[in-house]
Amino acid sequence: MIDLREWLDTVDGLGELHRVKAEVDWNEEMAAVSYLAASQEGAPALLFEKVKGYPAGRRVLFNAIGTSLSRIAVAMGMAPGQTAMAMIREARERLKRRIEPVEVAEGEAPVNQNILEGDRVDVTAFPAPKMWPLDGGRYIGTADVIITRNPDTGVLNMGTYRQMIQDSQHVGLYLSPGKDAKLHLQRAWQQGKPLEVAACWGIDPLLLIIGSQGFPKNLCEYEFAGGVKGEPLAVVKGRVTDLLFPAHAEVVAEGIIRPESVRSEGPFGEFTGYYGRPEAETPLMEVQAIHHRNDPILTSALMADYPACEQSLFFSIIRSARIWDDLDRMGIPGIQGVYVHPAAAGGFGMVTVSIEQRFAGHAQQVAALAAQCPGGAYYTKWIVVVDEDVDPSDTDQVIWAMATRCNPIDDIDILRNTWSTWLDPTQNPPEDRPYGSKALINACKEHKYQQIFSRRTTITRGMYQRARERWQELGLAGEPPEPRAFEDFQNLQNMQSVSRRLEEFSGM
Ligand SMILES: Cc1cc2nc3c(=O)[nH]c(=O)nc-3n(C[C@H](O)[C@H](O)[C@H](O)COP(=O)(O)O)c2cc1C
Repeated sequence: MIDLREWLDTVDGLGELHRVKAEVDWNEEMAAVSYLAASQEGAPALLFEKVKGYPAGRRVLFNAIGTSLSRIAVAMGMAPGQTAMAMIREARERLKRRIEPVEVAEGEAPVNQNILEGDRVDVTAFPAPKMWPLDGGRYIGTADVIITRNPDTGVLNMGTYRQMIQDSQHVGLYLSPGKDAKLHLQRAWQQGKPLEVAACWGIDPLLLIIGSQGFPKNLCEYEFAGGVKGEPLAVVKGRVTDLLFPAHAEVVAEGIIRPESVRSEGPFGEFTGYYGRPEAETPLMEVQAIHHRNDPILTSALMADYPACEQSLFFSIIRSARIWDDLDRMGIPGIQGVYVHPAAAGGFGMVTVSIEQRFAGHAQQVAALAAQCPGGAYYTKWIVVVDEDVDPSDTDQVIWAMATRCNPIDDIDILRNTWSTWLDPTQNPPEDRPYGSKALINACKEHKYQQIFSRRTTITRGMYQRARERWQELGLAGEPPEPRAFEDFQNLQNMQSVSRRLEEFSGM
């Protein structure tokens, strides 16, 4: 399994890594530079090599994935240069595999090059950024993974949750309702016990991709990370906890959250492009040991409006794959493609499913299930179903379908009181959160009138071939795009009978 450093070398080889050698301040400047750079699609990953007030070697990575499909491909062990839909298909296959992690000895784990315990623990020794002007503090964990153990079943969970520095030995841990670590914490506290935590603050981007997705609660995400890569993840046992964490991580903090221990945290500029809920109490982690590699790299994720929001594009790929898989596992036929739009609140807000309509009510069934399946239920507000001749990843085509095949009064349904988050800016007053709502938009040709629905203007396959062959002779650059639909003259009888009826009607 490659680690962050190998990933950086590969990405550097692709010309997609920019090393910032000049000194930059952790206090808003690093995040501001990242925001401006990443606001342009295709921006490189940014490695800040000299942070003000810190020795050289204490580095911070921003925009690791950003809007680059190639950087996602490298993280997931795929070939760079594929389209989003091709990557979604491949991600589905890779996520079906599960490979258990292997435990390595303490001395074999690069993360154990330095181990600090007791009084030597100081989280402020790492150049954690303060991101936005109104943030409540410095966030040391954003592109991170947090390891906890289910007190009932013993299953380990790896989830991405933010962490704000409270003081040199304490960090806050923000957990949304229903998230695995939150459930572990609630159960441990019910039992009057502390929860053990291992916070990994510098990681291989694959772990961020996997850790930020909801997987079945009885399975450990390490197995999915191994499955995606096709080899087991190396993990190592903690010094002060019974947890296993990635052996190749850059920085890992181990500690506990004591029963009912909370402290005020936030606000934080969020994936929605707004500050989240106002300052509130969140669980307080007491850091008891820190492990780090020599010259450690913190991995930071800027949360912002698109395209500067770090989670946008990889959420698009991986959530699309998860939702498609959920629909498949439920046995829903006719699914041609699923696409989560990266610009919709960090890829959380909108999903489009393309189907071949096979029966009455099929489109409505797909919309309702895509809205509520495990891979798609959290936050998603807009669920659009389109026919098979519409590429769900082509926003122009989806909008065209919504404008020509959807009649809002008949084709939009609303689900109320659904799974959402304290971070949704539309739910006010904030105390009313975290319930959400979802619009199911049927932008398919009406099933009932499919046969007589206005015929789409398309060219014949023969004419496409002819134009393709003559493309250069006609002086046109490149190659013509391949249309998703061709005129096949099927069901023309119906159309002709409709136009006859229309003629009769107009002659009356
Ligand atoms: C960069 C980033 C930061 C995130 N921060 C948080 C957070 O602070 N709290 C939270 O509950 N979810 C956060 N999420 C979303 C969770 O990672 C996601 O819901 C995931 O499913 C949680 O893991 P779990 O399903 O094992 O609980 C974040 C996601 C990303 C990509």
